[in-house]
Amino acid sequence: MSLAVSYRLLTPLLLLGFVQVILTKRFVVKEASKICLLAEFSANFSVSFETTAKKQATVLFPLPEDAKESPKSNCSSMIAPLLVVSFGDGHSLSMNFSRSNVSYKMEELTLVLNMSNSALFPNSSKVGLFNMSRPLDISAKLNTTYTCKSDSTIYMENVNVTLNKVQWEVLPPADGFSKTKTECHADVTPSVPPTTPVTTLAPTTATPVIQNPTRGRYNVTNNNVTCLLAEMGLQINITQMTGNKIATKVFNIYPNLTHASGNCSKDHAFLQLTDKWTTLIFQFVVNATFNNFYLKGISISSSLVPSQGKGFQAENISLHYLQTSLGKSYMCQAEQVLQVTPNFSINAFELRVQPFKVENSKYGIAEECQMDKDDMLIPIIVGAALAGLVLIVLIAYLIGRKRSHAGYQTI
Ligand SMILES: *[C@@H]1O[C@H](CO)[C@@H](O)[C@H](O)[C@H]1NC(C)=O
Ligand SMILES: *[C@@H]1O[C@H](CO)[C@@H](O)[C@H](O)[C@H]1NC(C)=O
Ligand SMILES: *[C@@H]1O[C@H](CO)[C@@H](O)[C@H](O)[C@H]1NC(C)=O
Ligand SMILES: *[C@@H]1O[C@H](CO)[C@@H](O)[C@H](O)[C@H]1NC(C)=O
Ligand SMILES: *[C@@H]1O[C@H](CO)[C@@H](O)[C@H](O)[C@H]1NC(C)=O
Ligand SMILES: *[C@@H]1O[C@H](CO)[C@@H](O)[C@H](O)[C@H]1NC(C)=O
Ligand SMILES: *[C@@H]1O[C@H](CO)[C@@H](O)[C@H](O)[C@H]1NC(C)=O
Ligand SMILES: *[C@@H]1O[C@H](CO)[C@@H](O)[C@H](O)[C@H]1NC(C)=O
Ligand SMILES: *[C@@H]1O[C@H](CO)[C@@H](O)[C@H](O)[C@H]1NC(C)=O
Ligand SMILES: *[C@@H]1O[C@H](CO)[C@@H](O)[C@H](O)[C@H]1NC(C)=O
Ligand SMILES: *[C@@H]1O[C@H](CO)[C@@H](O)[C@H](O)[C@H]1NC(C)=O
Ligand SMILES: *[C@@H]1O[C@H](CO)[C@@H](O)[C@H](O)[C@H]1NC(C)=O
Repeated sequence: MSLAVSYRLLTPLLLLGFVQVILTKRFVVKEASKICLLAEFSANFSVSFETTAKKQATVLFPLPEDAKESPKSNCSSMIAPLLVVSFGDGHSLSMNFSRSNVSYKMEELTLVLNMSNSALFPNSSKVGLFNMSRPLDISAKLNTTYTCKSDSTIYMENVNVTLNKVQWEVLPPADGFSKTKTECHADVTPSVPPTTPVTTLAPTTATPVIQNPTRGRYNVTNNNVTCLLAEMGLQINITQMTGNKIATKVFNIYPNLTHASGNCSKDHAFLQLTDKWTTLIFQFVVNATFNNFYLKGISISSSLVPSQGKGFQAENISLHYLQTSLGKSYMCQAEQVLQVTPNFSINAFELRVQPFKVENSKYGIAEECQMDKDDMLIPIIVGAALAGLVLIVLIAYLIGRKRSHAGYQTI
């Protein structure tokens, strides 16, 4: 009886949003008196840490009432607003935004936790401030409010941040949020009933059309001598099952943010490409029997794709790609798909590589891939067909002329 009463009492409160108002916090970032960012959301944090007894502990806590904009927040000339929310005993949650003249996006989420805070992290083996961040790409049109009522969880190493009841806008109107909304994917896509068989499921993350990657030049130097040369545009394709949903993440490697390193010996060469989030290692080997080399191994680890609370990792060291005669370089202008594991492939563009016998930092003669040869075949075939056509027309003309001559003679 009393249960029913309290339920009836609570429902209108919930409907009126009283509970929500308590949980959802509003944050304002402004320069002079102009607001560059208005944001409202609630958040939960799940943090796992090691205790002094060498055990893993996990704590779950919401963004507390005392959360407020820190003075570190700024508008950066209205172009790149930064919201820093400080809470509790020295913790903070930051969001970097950026805008163009048509849209804006949230680019990066950073969390700083004070592990010395023993009330929150009892018996933590680590003390002091810990910093973690994840690049994101949450875009919306200018003059619209980005809204997401659904939970969205941002996975970081040892920390999951769940945002809920999100609304934010860069350069909002003076009187609050714009009425027009850009809704998040999760809010507009009805969730798939769990009974649907997995095999008939379409990918749930619509893969946005992604631009071809920029071609990078990477090389490896051994004792001041360049021993490996490589040029390529790289696109990573990772497909994962989360529950019964298939999610595909495709992203490019930016040469300007990537550091190349590695090592070479007579019969092994490693090229390692590292950026802030991803490490790729290519392993080339020599097959002395056939006097050639090939790409034998590819491994990846990337924090851009969360997997079991960590970054995605995959490796295959028994591949056989890009086989080329020793002393020459491998070249492929066409896009090439290097399947590494069933759920990880690399789309390589404008590839040229020579991992052995590099002389004077220059590529040897190029051996072109079959696809490029096929591309060259087309003009040859078309050319040959045209030549054939001209010949047929010529013969037909000559025969015709001969016949008509014969005709005149009979008259
Ligand atoms: C971290 O927490 C400890 C204990 O609660 C506190 O003494 C210290 O001032 C905090 N550090 C920062 C940077 O706020
Ligand atoms: C986000 O802002 C912080 C502080 O200004 C800066 O250090 C960081 O590089 C920014 N990240 C991005 C992706 O702009
Ligand atoms: C946005 O700005 C760029 C250059 O800053 C300009 O070329 C483009 O036309 C602008 N787009 C719109 C819709 O104003
Ligand atoms: C947004 O609104 C402002 C002021 O109303 C206007 O000047 C601007 O062109 C609008 N931008 C877009 C992309 O609609
Ligand atoms: C912290 O460690 C002490 C001693 O090892 C133990 O008595 C206490 O229960 C631990 N506290 C928590 C919250 O685990
Ligand atoms: C936070 O966690 C509590 C308890 O698990 C849950 O009731 C609440 O819905 C969560 N809120 C968000 C925003 O995830
Ligand atoms: C990514 O891989 C999946 C599965 O192999 C494939 O269906 C999809 O077309 C690939 N996407 C791109 C952009 O290569
Ligand atoms: C890196 O290059 C991309 C395009 O290739 C560009 O959009 C981006 O601004 C560049 N970043 C830096 C830090 O130069
Ligand atoms: C060469 O580089 C690879 C990949 O970075 C590494 O695993 C290997 O230990 C290195 N070998 C030598 C001899 O430095
Ligand atoms: C060289 O290639 C042959 C034929 O594919 C293979 O049997 C042999 O194991 C290879 N050797 C090396 C070192 O890869
Ligand atoms: C974060 O979420 C993932 C997937 O649900 C889970 O495996 C992991 O344990 C979580 N991590 C924390 C710190 O809660
Ligand atoms: C090797 O790479 C560096 C940095 O990308 C570049 O400056 C240098 O010109 C490259 N060397 C060769 C021989 O391509």
